[in-house]
Amino acid sequence: MSGAEGALGREMTALLRHAKVKVLPTDIKQLDITDFKKTSKVISDYRPDVILHFAAISNVDSCETDRDTAYRVNALSTLGLAVNAKRVGAKMLYTSTNFVFSGDSESPYSENSQPNPISEYGRTKLFGENYIREICDRYYVVRTSWLFGINSKTFISKFLSMEKKPRAINVICDQFGSLTYIPHLGEAILRIIKSDNYGTYHIVNSGVASWLDFVLRAKKIMRFRTTIRPVKTDELGLPAKRPRYAPLSSNNYEFLFSCSMKSWEDALTEYIKRLMRKP
Ligand SMILES: NC(=O)c1ccc[n+]([C@@H]2O[C@H](COP(=O)([O-])OP(=O)(O)OC[C@H]3O[C@@H](n4cnc5c(N)ncnc54)[C@H](OP(=O)(O)O)[C@@H]3O)[C@@H](O)[C@H]2O)c1
Repeated sequence: MSGAEGALGREMTALLRHAKVKVLPTDIKQLDITDFKKTSKVISDYRPDVILHFAAISNVDSCETDRDTAYRVNALSTLGLAVNAKRVGAKMLYTSTNFVFSGDSESPYSENSQPNPISEYGRTKLFGENYIREICDRYYVVRTSWLFGINSKTFISKFLSMEKKPRAINVICDQFGSLTYIPHLGEAILRIIKSDNYGTYHIVNSGVASWLDFVLRAKKIMRFRTTIRPVKTDELGLPAKRPRYAPLSSNNYEFLFSCSMKSWEDALTEYIKRLMRKP
C-alpha cells in the first residue's frame, strides 16, 4: 500500500488487519514512490497480490503552485506502480477523484462521463488513471470525492473533531459535490479487491451537498455554537479552480455488488457517533 499514513491509508490498514489480510503499509518516509528503482525493489521483494495506490499530492492548491511535484507524484509515480503491478502480476487499485471532471454538469457524473479537468490536481490524477488503464490488465480505478473521517486533513473534518471550537468559521457555499465517509469507502475497496470485477468505479455516499450543507447538518446534531459564515469560492482567491458541480453516482459498484451506498446524512451521523466515542 502506498500513502498508508494518509486518511484513507490509515483506515484501510486497520480494515485489512481486522480482516486478517497481510499488508505492507508504506508512506513517503519508508518508500518515496517518485524513486522508481527503490519502488521496483520493494515490490520485487514483497511480491504483493494487490497494490493499493493511495499516495498522492491531494492538496489541490499545492498541485497548482508546485506543478512539477504534482506531476511526479500523481502521474509519473503511478506509471511506475502500474509497470510494477504488471511485472509481478499484481492487481492494481488506484484512487482518483471527481476533480477529473470540469464541474459544469447539471447531473451527477457517471463512470462513463467524459473527464475534462480544470486544475493541475485533476489533470495529474487523470494522467495516473490513463497509465493504469494502458498498462495494467487487472485494475480498479476508484474515483471518490470529498473524504471525511477521523484522520482526514480537510478543514471541516478537523473542525468537527476539535474539542474547543472557534467562535466563527467561513464555509464554502457555492460548490456542490458528493461526500464520502472514509470507512464506507474502505469497506467498498475491500469488497472490490476480493473480486474480479475490474474497471472504473465511483464510490461516494449518495446525495448532493455543499460543505455548507454538511456543516449546518453537523451543527444541528452536535449543537456547537460556532457561527457558520457562508462564503463564495471567488472570495477566497485560491490558486486552483474547483469544479462548481461535480457529484458522482456510484452506478458500477451498486450494480456489480448489489448494494446501495448510504446517504451522506446517515454517514455524517455515523461519523459524529464515532467522534463522540473518541477518548
Ligand atoms: N481527500 C479527498 O477528499 C480525496 C478526494 C478524492 C480522491 N482522493 C484520492 O484518494 C487518495 C487518498 O487520499 P487521502 O485523503 O488519504 O490523501 P492524503 O491524506 O493526502 O494521503 C496521501 C499520502 O501520500 C503521501 N505521499 C505524498 N507524496 C508521496 C510520495 N512521493 N511517496 C509516498 N507517499 C507520498 C502523503 O504524505 P504527505 O502528507 O507527507 O504529503 C500522504 O501521507 C488519493 O489518491 C487522493 O488523490 C482524495
